[in-house]
Amino acid sequence: MTAQTLDGKAFAARLRARIATQVADLAGQGIVPGLAVVLVGEDPASQVYVRSKGRMTREVGMTSFEHRLPASTDQDTLMALIAKLNADPAVNGILVQLPLPKGMDEAAVINAILPEKDVDGFHILNVGRLATGQKAMVPCTPLGCLMLLRDYLGSLAGRNAVVIGRSNIVGKPMAQLLLRDSATVTVAHSRTTDLAALCRQADILVAAVGRPHFVQGDWIKPGATVIDVGINRTDDGLVGDVDFAAAVQVAGAITPVPGGVGPMTIACLLANTLTATARSNG
Ligand code: GUN
Repeated sequence: MTAQTLDGKAFAARLRARIATQVADLAGQGIVPGLAVVLVGEDPASQVYVRSKGRMTREVGMTSFEHRLPASTDQDTLMALIAKLNADPAVNGILVQLPLPKGMDEAAVINAILPEKDVDGFHILNVGRLATGQKAMVPCTPLGCLMLLRDYLGSLAGRNAVVIGRSNIVGKPMAQLLLRDSATVTVAHSRTTDLAALCRQADILVAAVGRPHFVQGDWIKPGATVIDVGINRTDDGLVGDVDFAAAVQVAGAITPVPGGVGPMTIACLLANTLTATARSNG
């Protein structure tokens, strides 16, 4: 049996088309959503992400504000920019690209963003709201994974979900979202014992470890739904955290890399920006 491929690229394109329609409706009321992206330093991968975020923001009819600061920028300068963006009514969403250069206090920077403009969902208030079941801005990558899971599986209630990775950006919020949908959730990490046996219990397996081809085909429960969050640059090009060629023989459904979770992240960022705009306009 060969797994169904979950086409995140096509799903994300449909989502962006729906967002564009809603943005056009808002334009009729004189409202244009604005997303500000702040990039500090010259990290090549971050530059690629920021460029494509800007392009897709404009494609759906929103305004993109890009702020590129040198790696030598001091924290006070960055804080002053965030204060300016917080106060700017044309800016509905603010994203500070991570990682920040060494020496910067990432938590302080993130928590300086107004929670209602925090389209990444990384502000401590949004993290707390998600964890306590309140209306929150939800981190884009796990939100995109959830959309693909719901679309393919319908209800997630009672399903065994294993999330590999405990980052603040993906693993932890992914676990919260799965729990909110009544899955039974286990978060695995580098100190987990017998990871393979644990994964074999998973109806839903989310891999967010950042190690190429880490998850082996024989770790996967036959028929499971596998979400591969990894984007690893190797000599063979972009590969995921899952050994796709082996996993596709066992899983029921699996996201490819590229073309799976990646495109969903930016589409969800635009969805969050639209949500922030709607909330700021009553
Ligand atoms: N760096 C890697 N992923 C992300 C993300 O989702 N948001 C931000 N701001 N930076 C990132």
